[in-house]
Amino acid sequence: MTPFSRITGTGSYLPPRRVTNDDLARELAERGVETSDQWIVERTGIRARHFAAPDVGSSDLALHACRHALEAAGRSVGDVDLIIVATSTPDMIFPSSAAILQNKLGIAGCPAFDVQAVCSGFIYALTVADAMIKTGSARCALVVGAEVFSRILDFNDRTTCVLFGDGAGAVVLEASETPGILASDLHADGKHVGILCVPGSVSGGQVLGTPLLHMDGQAVFKLAVRVLEEAANATLAKAGKTAADIDWLIPHQANLRIMQGTARKLKLPAEKLVVTVHDHGNTSAASIPLALDVAVRGGQVRKGDMVMLEGVGGGFTWGAVLLTL
Ligand code: UT7
Repeated sequence: MTPFSRITGTGSYLPPRRVTNDDLARELAERGVETSDQWIVERTGIRARHFAAPDVGSSDLALHACRHALEAAGRSVGDVDLIIVATSTPDMIFPSSAAILQNKLGIAGCPAFDVQAVCSGFIYALTVADAMIKTGSARCALVVGAEVFSRILDFNDRTTCVLFGDGAGAVVLEASETPGILASDLHADGKHVGILCVPGSVSGGQVLGTPLLHMDGQAVFKLAVRVLEEAANATLAKAGKTAADIDWLIPHQANLRIMQGTARKLKLPAEKLVVTVHDHGNTSAASIPLALDVAVRGGQVRKGDMVMLEGVGGGFTWGAVLLTL
């Protein structure tokens, strides 16, 4: 057993089709749905998102992200002894996207499973992997967030379809003698299920209900700002740190106004906030590892920096992880 787990490599992948707000507005206009670049930018900060081709699944996006992360960590697929994929848009009902990904990576035998906590999924997955490494169940984990949210969008609902995109992010999390993950804090409150859900299921070979995303944006907004502040403070307290110790805040990338509000509540200057929502949209469980990888590869976040990751989403679920990179 080793006392700590640490991120040793990051990777990400966006499908090539980039759709700007103007592109989307044009496509929606053909359906009689009215929106504009101005509305989307003002309310969310989103300028573009990526959409996967119809034959591309979450595991395909995850595969690219994992290869980049393994390369960055200087590891090969043969070193991997745990795969956790956070997704709400799996390739199939079963088996898990993690099992499908394992096969695409060309390995077999190690545990592989999905975590379903919607936009908090990566925070949940990272916390689970950290615990498994600390208890000696694994030494080298691939922790992934991968989504094809475009599949569950209602393109007749302008209040939601302009917000989301597809993508994947991954980290290699390894057993370490020096601290990496310092503390985490996870929560769920199922009484809010109705404000953000895909209220469909499969039964007897039929889709029952509506297999498209439904969201009460304002209710989600209010809850998100409150719980993100609470989770950050709880995580800092567990680690014996204060907000002043944070070098980078990487929240779930859903809405620039929520992210800036969270930074303000923590009294963090805007320069410490990593923002990718303008170019990715909301990629749900993929958004945090995508933003982390962009910041690492862009030279913003460096080895030794203290990073606060924060997620919030359907369930309601929320949580945070404080780590030294
Ligand atoms: O990943 C999970 C976490 N999810 C989130 O964090 C999302 C949280 N919520 C939000 O980000 C915001 O609530 C939204 C971006 C979804 C909406 O922003 P808002 O400032 O709360 O706008 P609103 O819902 O109050 O709508 C304002 C107006 C409405 O028109 P009226 O009733 O004032 O005439 C909407 O019909 O904007 C209209 N509207 C639009 N107009 C143009 C809503 N969507 C659009 C649109 N284009 N796409």
